[in-house]
Amino acid sequence: MRAYQILPGENIDGLRCVNFPERELALGEVRVRVHAVSLNYRDLMVASGNYLVNVDDPIIPCSDGAGEVLAVGHGVTRLQVGDRVAASFFPYWQDGRTSPSKIRHALGGDIDGMLAEEVVLHEDALVKIPPQLSYVEASTMPCAGVTAWNAIFESSNGIKPGDTVLLLGTGGVSVLGLQLARAAGLRTIITSSSDEKLARARELGVHHTINYRTIPEWQEEVLRVTHGAGADVVLEVGGQGTVNRSVASCAMGGSVAIIGGVSGFGGEVNPATLLAGAKRMVGIFVGSRRMLEQVMSFAATSEIKPVVDRVFGFEQAQEAYRYMESGSHFGKVVISVTG
Ligand SMILES: NC(=O)c1ccc[n+]([C@@H]2O[C@H](COP(=O)([O-])OP(=O)(O)OC[C@H]3O[C@@H](n4cnc5c(N)ncnc54)[C@H](OP(=O)(O)O)[C@@H]3O)[C@@H](O)[C@H]2O)c1
Repeated sequence: MRAYQILPGENIDGLRCVNFPERELALGEVRVRVHAVSLNYRDLMVASGNYLVNVDDPIIPCSDGAGEVLAVGHGVTRLQVGDRVAASFFPYWQDGRTSPSKIRHALGGDIDGMLAEEVVLHEDALVKIPPQLSYVEASTMPCAGVTAWNAIFESSNGIKPGDTVLLLGTGGVSVLGLQLARAAGLRTIITSSSDEKLARARELGVHHTINYRTIPEWQEEVLRVTHGAGADVVLEVGGQGTVNRSVASCAMGGSVAIIGGVSGFGGEVNPATLLAGAKRMVGIFVGSRRMLEQVMSFAATSEIKPVVDRVFGFEQAQEAYRYMESGSHFGKVVISVTG
């Protein structure tokens, strides 16, 4: 079977296709034929050697994949041959609060990931895909979908229908967050550097759009369209360039979900800006297998079709990474492994 490998720091040029021998299944393991893999900003960070963890040996990259069970090892009880499955970002975080042990490994970070024709994983790291979701759609869920789900529904300060969610930019996490929030009856505001992308967000039903290039003080616009109240949940993916504006955009008693740093990490937040409004900042680190089950089930029953901007072929992995790197995408970029 073929898989891509990369040594973190080699950059996209270092991504190469390698042949691997098939290995025996151990107790509880499952062999999966991968059909689709979605890319995340994190995969670019791994390629450039800027991810949180680093490794000395090449790894198979990418956390997010969906496929079909080809074979099951001894002791497997949850899955059978032919099941459609998606892999969970943290193979050891099944449920409950996170802990160092639960997040000790992450697919495509410090251990082999999903950009392969076949993978072998423990059954506990896999989730069945609802019939309403295609492999391509399901592949968008393990990182982007779970992160947005966790930020809006798990780690916020008690979100309820009619509350407002603010989404920064139109990448994978934000557009999936928009789709989940709309389906849950929440009001939505999204920012982007592009009017064209904002028009696409309006087609998805977003209530307010703000171009953060033409309106650099966009937090004032968030307050204006919410009649001074602010957003109950902010999905903060910008980092040092946006975090203080996100706090200013947040409603009293609301939460700023600290997710990413597309404009870099660092900077300072004055604690006084949080205490006066009883605002919370909460770190989000993807989520558990249970959250993956819930977000996929919610997407299926709400008839959400995750927005996939482009699908590349398996041989076009470098091209897919470069497209992601260009920032031209709206929503997700996917690699179809089986064509
Ligand atoms: N903590 C976690 O568990 C977790 C999980 C997933 C992702 N993340 C992080 O979240 C971030 C987004 O990930 P992703 O996979 O969704 O990335 P992505 O698909 O590449 O989207 C990034 C988007 O951010 C927007 N952007 C760029 N610069 C910006 C700025 N200065 N201010 C506001 N928006 C800006 C752009 O939107 P426009 O083109 O519309 O301007 C861009 O498309 C990354 O930092 C990633 O590492 C963290």
